[in-house]
Amino acid sequence: MVEALTVPRQSFEIPHRDIGKIEVFRTADETAIATAAAIMEVVRRNPEAAITYATGATMEPVYAHIAHQVSAGRIDFSQTKAFHLDERYPCAHNDCSGFAHFIYERVVRPFGIPLEHVSFWNGEAADPHAEVQRYRELLSRQPIDLTILGIGPPGKDNPAIDGHIAFNEYGTPFESDCHYVPLLAKETLDRDRVERGETVPDGAFTQGLREITGAKKIILTGYGTQKGIALYHTLYDEICEDRPASVLRLPHVGDKTQLFIDQMAAAEILAP
Ligand code: GLP
Repeated sequence: MVEALTVPRQSFEIPHRDIGKIEVFRTADETAIATAAAIMEVVRRNPEAAITYATGATMEPVYAHIAHQVSAGRIDFSQTKAFHLDERYPCAHNDCSGFAHFIYERVVRPFGIPLEHVSFWNGEAADPHAEVQRYRELLSRQPIDLTILGIGPPGKDNPAIDGHIAFNEYGTPFESDCHYVPLLAKETLDRDRVERGETVPDGAFTQGLREITGAKKIILTGYGTQKGIALYHTLYDEICEDRPASVLRLPHVGDKTQLFIDQMAAAEILAP
């Protein structure tokens, strides 16, 4: 019998003048549980919610916790609509390193979301610019109730830059729309190819920072030291396009943004 999700006791909050709420939990899994509970609360309040999903290692335990609750019949995602932040390009639909594949396997299928409610990026698109236009138009027709984010690594040579969101890497304009990235930054490709041993293409599709920050509610989740370093610079250095996630601190964005982090990440924010 799958136990109901019990939101773990929050360790503490980090007050921040720009961000609505920063909650710190003891462990990565407790942070994932709290994130899962917050996502489920959005769907409880609005069973037809349109949600943009992040991919990556951070999200795996979050989505697994939700999938357990769906399988136990405690929450129904079947009326929700699903989008995703980004996709590698070119990337075959059945390529395990692809993000549409990740979203299908960890969200669409286990959450019971009908395929007709899902808008996947097409990593096999013949014309990347036409694909960007297609996805931009999809998002222009569908207000997003919740966007779920992870955060990329701090810059290797200078930890005060990067901390990308989706594939909006350092230097991406805050008012960017969906776009095609022909060549990802070295930090991103090194992380995926060298540190994670993945065979990944040079390019990607990504929702832009304007679409991401246009959601009614934004959740960003991160665990561990590296995410903490990226978040420290995001939260306390100047808001600028070298730190894409600092867009979340803009006046019309911060108050609808909630961070869920573990104590390891918080340690880098509180005593860098
Ligand atoms: C990737 C993705 C982002 C993701 C981030 C963190 O590059 N483009 O959407 O949030 O990096 O990934 P992970 O959770 O695996 O650390």
